[in-house]
Amino acid sequence: MCGIVGYIGTKKASPILINGLLRLEYRGYDSAGISTIEKEGLSMMKDKGRVKNLYHLEGIDNLEGTIGIAHTRWATHGKPAKENSHPHMDNSKTFSVVHNGIIENYHELRKFLTEHGYTFYSQTDTEVVPNLIHYYYNQDTNHDEMKFLRATKNACNDLKGSFALEIICKDYPDHMIVIRKDSPLVIGKGEGENYICSDIPAILSFTREFYLLEDFEFVVLARDDAKFYDKDLNPINKKTQTIEWNASSAEKDGYEDYMLKEIYEQPTAIRETIGAKLNEGTKCEFEELNYSKDYLKGLNKIYLVACGTAMHAGLAGKNILERLCKIPTEVDIASEFRYRNPIIDDKTLCIFISQSGETADTIAALKLSREKGAKTLAITNVIGSSITREADNSIYTHAGPEIAVASTKAYTSQVILLAILGIYFAETLEISENEVAALKQDMATLPSKIEETLKCAKTVKEFGKRIYQEKDVFFLGRGIDETVARESALKLKEISYIHADSYPAGELKHGPIALIENDITVISIMTDSKLVEKTVSNIQEVITRGAKTLVVTNQKVDDKMFDTVIHIPETNPFIAPILSVIPLQLLSYYISKEKGLDVDKPRNLAKSVTVE
Ligand code: F6R
Repeated sequence: MCGIVGYIGTKKASPILINGLLRLEYRGYDSAGISTIEKEGLSMMKDKGRVKNLYHLEGIDNLEGTIGIAHTRWATHGKPAKENSHPHMDNSKTFSVVHNGIIENYHELRKFLTEHGYTFYSQTDTEVVPNLIHYYYNQDTNHDEMKFLRATKNACNDLKGSFALEIICKDYPDHMIVIRKDSPLVIGKGEGENYICSDIPAILSFTREFYLLEDFEFVVLARDDAKFYDKDLNPINKKTQTIEWNASSAEKDGYEDYMLKEIYEQPTAIRETIGAKLNEGTKCEFEELNYSKDYLKGLNKIYLVACGTAMHAGLAGKNILERLCKIPTEVDIASEFRYRNPIIDDKTLCIFISQSGETADTIAALKLSREKGAKTLAITNVIGSSITREADNSIYTHAGPEIAVASTKAYTSQVILLAILGIYFAETLEISENEVAALKQDMATLPSKIEETLKCAKTVKEFGKRIYQEKDVFFLGRGIDETVARESALKLKEISYIHADSYPAGELKHGPIALIENDITVISIMTDSKLVEKTVSNIQEVITRGAKTLVVTNQKVDDKMFDTVIHIPETNPFIAPILSVIPLQLLSYYISKEKGLDVDKPRNLAKSVTVE
């Protein structure tokens, strides 16, 4: 997905901008570009392809400007091509703009501007923005210091859709304007300089002090100043917030890939997410929440809404909330939820799970739930992300930045946070005392059990070497293990491009078993003592048909029955996915490596999906 970087200060801007873009590469993109203010006016360097290609563009080394904007584009309107890459300028080359999001009414605006003599050189929605700013700028006869801002504000008032914009103007060589609506953008405050970015990791090495913007707040940035205005251009005050992530947590720390690093960070991510919430002898507290016993008792339903891996974490959450808290809970895919007219009222609690906090479908589902009168709660990993501004309340996983496109530590952190939420609800409702006490105990030992589970890497790698050339792999499980089967199949598809499917093990004989043939790989997860025998007998059916089998289990099984068995530590069934998913995250990783693929940046995928 598109990324934005900006700089205004005293240093040469172009290397800072390109460096920032390189740190955003993980978001997925197809072209890149920068624009700076030079003595002779605005510069613009862009092309399709990798960020590092910018170094080869003629004249890039001659840029001296200390103010600049930069962008990585992930094509939505118009093919990946130089002319569609950002930045975009207006016809008179007065303004240069980069944009994340979608201008929904760009056809209309393009028509209006064309009728007023403007020409368009790209197929993008973005190109209307600099021209519209120019249109209003030209109409304004007051030549004061607010003219640039007034033109920007008038143009933004005409835009429908979502946008994070950085704008520079050749007539204002010491200023930059930024604004966001439904698209991420933050400002990092330095000493005599300001950094702008769509994603905090891009500029973490420069500062930890950030201004987080609300929708439709305009910022006029100078080198040592940032002035904030509301949508009517009334000045507003804003304080910085300190982001605790350090720069090295956004780097690879000696691991070959971000994904591997993030898999190994799971003990820490779980420890951090549990934090001080589970003290023995005291009730679980969430500072951010004040749901009363009466409110929770009166709930008719909880919806857990999310996409992809976050939705799989929701499936584990359903198990916890229904069994521990006795509240009917449904899990919904955000892109479906918003169009299926779900039954929601003020007795419904809607919980939205999103690592990035920027997923467009999840945010739209949240807005819908709020309109229908539900209380909304966001579970996210990114402080200040869009979803936290929309939700009534937000609680956070503390997984640190997740850079690899394939989600690993965010998933396990979401499951643990949902379990903590379940404990908080059950304690507030004063039910399930024994189960809660047992779960709390098991949570305390979970990080060290993750460390132990990670020791399976060598066996997993060997199994990966055996199956990396396969075309199809099946994942089976029952109960909570079926949710892990789904997540594991998704992970394998994403980064190894092997077709993978998951089924409840008992469903096999109702159709999918027709696909089982000699030497096909079937992977099963068995962590539930009540269901293990049944799953074993389902696996027996595929073994009879010649399948190769890998089993991940914390139960006693007859190892000789299967090709490979990964034994993992036993834990509470509510949080078992946190351990059982790990060997299968590693399996996807090693298969992808064996195939020589780009593990962190799989084809066609973006880290955060900020369009519908
Ligand atoms: C899979 C993956 C995606 C995300 C999904 C939601 O590895 O990362 O399926 O889980 O796009 O993203 P967030 O959690 O940012 O809303």
